[in-house]
Amino acid sequence: MTAKPLVAVTRDIPDAGLDILRASCEVRLWPEEMPPTPEELDGVLDGVVGALTLLDDKITAAVLDRHPQIRVVSNYAVGYDNIDVEAATARGVAVCNTPDVLNAATAEFSFALLMAAARRIVEASNYVKDGKWHTWGPRVLLGQNVVGATLGIVGFGRIGKELARMASGFNMRILAHARTVDPDAEREYGVTYVSLDELLAESDFVSLNVALTDETYHLIGARELALMKPTGILINAARGRVVDTDALLAALQDGTILAAGLDVSDPEPLPADHPLAHLPNCIVAPHIASATVEARTKMATMAARNLVAVLNGERPESIINPDVLDA
Ligand code: DGY
Repeated sequence: MTAKPLVAVTRDIPDAGLDILRASCEVRLWPEEMPPTPEELDGVLDGVVGALTLLDDKITAAVLDRHPQIRVVSNYAVGYDNIDVEAATARGVAVCNTPDVLNAATAEFSFALLMAAARRIVEASNYVKDGKWHTWGPRVLLGQNVVGATLGIVGFGRIGKELARMASGFNMRILAHARTVDPDAEREYGVTYVSLDELLAESDFVSLNVALTDETYHLIGARELALMKPTGILINAARGRVVDTDALLAALQDGTILAAGLDVSDPEPLPADHPLAHLPNCIVAPHIASATVEARTKMATMAARNLVAVLNGERPESIINPDVLDA
């Protein structure tokens, strides 16, 4: 009997994924809540041929060089900005991710943040908890209408499109900005593609749904925030570093924009004493947009299947650098 290949899993993912791995691999599981430090990660990766990683595990060229036996890095996320894909490709290491299975969860969380920020739901709940609810107030906690408002979606990929579908149920006018214009999507989702500046100036809500790349790092800074309406609300369920945090903080403090709803931040995790966490007009969630039982289970099974497929010499469901399979 040949020994099962040794693979690493850098956090305790849902059982459905672990079961798939254990059926054909020996699994080394990092059991802690906190991610392994870079030194601990080296220990976790020691001798493994495949690694199922999370978005805060930095897989750099140096890490890959210290573990040349690794053939596949399968990320438990759609985003893969934690992995140096170029370095992986150069070393023949397959990089996989989990698209599609989290589209609905992530889009609905973007919309939940939009609704919560527009109608000040967190502030309202705190108002009651703080004993401030003494009477029905005609001017108390006035928010913004969502129905009929304009939503600008920056990054019109799978999640952006799902968000557009949801927003159309609220009769919203939808603008989109993306690197490439897809005329079919324009028809199918009833959106209008515009430049980023136009989108920022015309939207009541701006939702960021782009991947983090060199081009999207600090895509939204002081200049872009100043283009938004003073009643504008920024939603970010993409990556924290797409937004310049200092510029956002200033814009929320001085009224350049009305409010923000963030699932992601820079830094991440956001320290509890960070000023952004204490602004009444800013909601910060701890990067949970994909955190539904259904989405996380599917992410776990997909990441596991991707990893096993590469080890078996098969084409995985989602691979970022397919050239390595043909090399
Ligand atoms: C992702 O998949 O990239 C999300 O940020 C976490 O689910």
